[in-house]
Amino acid sequence: MEVVILPTYEEMSRAAAEVVADQLNTKPNAVLGMATGSTPLGLYQELVRMHREEGLDFTQVTTFNLDEYVGLRPEHRQSYHYFMHENFFKLVNMSPGNIYIPSGTTSNYRSFCDWYERRIKECGGIDVQILGIGSDGHIAFNEPGSSLTSRTRLKTLAKSTIDDNARFFETPSDVPIYAITMGVGTILEARTLLLIASGKNKAQAVAAMIEGPVTSMTTASALQLHPSAIVFLDESAASDLKMRDYYDWVRKKKPDAPQV
Ligand code: GLP
Repeated sequence: MEVVILPTYEEMSRAAAEVVADQLNTKPNAVLGMATGSTPLGLYQELVRMHREEGLDFTQVTTFNLDEYVGLRPEHRQSYHYFMHENFFKLVNMSPGNIYIPSGTTSNYRSFCDWYERRIKECGGIDVQILGIGSDGHIAFNEPGSSLTSRTRLKTLAKSTIDDNARFFETPSDVPIYAITMGVGTILEARTLLLIASGKNKAQAVAAMIEGPVTSMTTASALQLHPSAIVFLDESAASDLKMRDYYDWVRKKKPDAPQV
């Protein structure tokens, strides 16, 4: 796992956007895994800027979103469909037929989840999966206790996640209790994982993910099992890391390392 600590949220977002842009420059028809939450907003803004000012092209790109709340229609302002369209898809030149987001309103969740998994494979698998992290260490909506081999499925949200996400809803009782989410096993099949985290309220979860044991109690710790995982952090998200000096040292020495 490569751990990159940058002074600010803005620098972190720009560095993460560079990884995505490099992927699109080498493979214009790349498959991207998209995340929601407040953390990736800066990364999406930077990709939109690159599209507008540098011609970064999304016409051949396919995207698969990680998750969606059960019960929210795509036009609901707190749905992840709405979030993605408002904050990213409508601002770049994506082909609408290449956008996949789990349905929160299907009549058959089991068969929808199986279809979603199949569709990812048919599109060649995910090249770069963008991830945030929940304060309980979850990735997507894989709450503590989720199997590290889990696939796309319906999950019951943890109380702490409902509380964390209540800030986006009018009242806490409006927060959906269920979600449909890619599994940890699904996420681990992406060729590169790109996790971003910002702020002191993520510091504990980030330390558990990077320096704790691999455990289903912190599903983000499954990144330790992945051969190509990059974690971008701002200073406050990195503040509980014990090996901080080493990560900085590795980064400083990277330009001089023999080419592999
Ligand atoms: C939700 C999403 C996650 C996201 C997390 C953190 O639980 N399902 O994918 O990582 O929120 O969101 P934020 O970036 O707003 O802290």
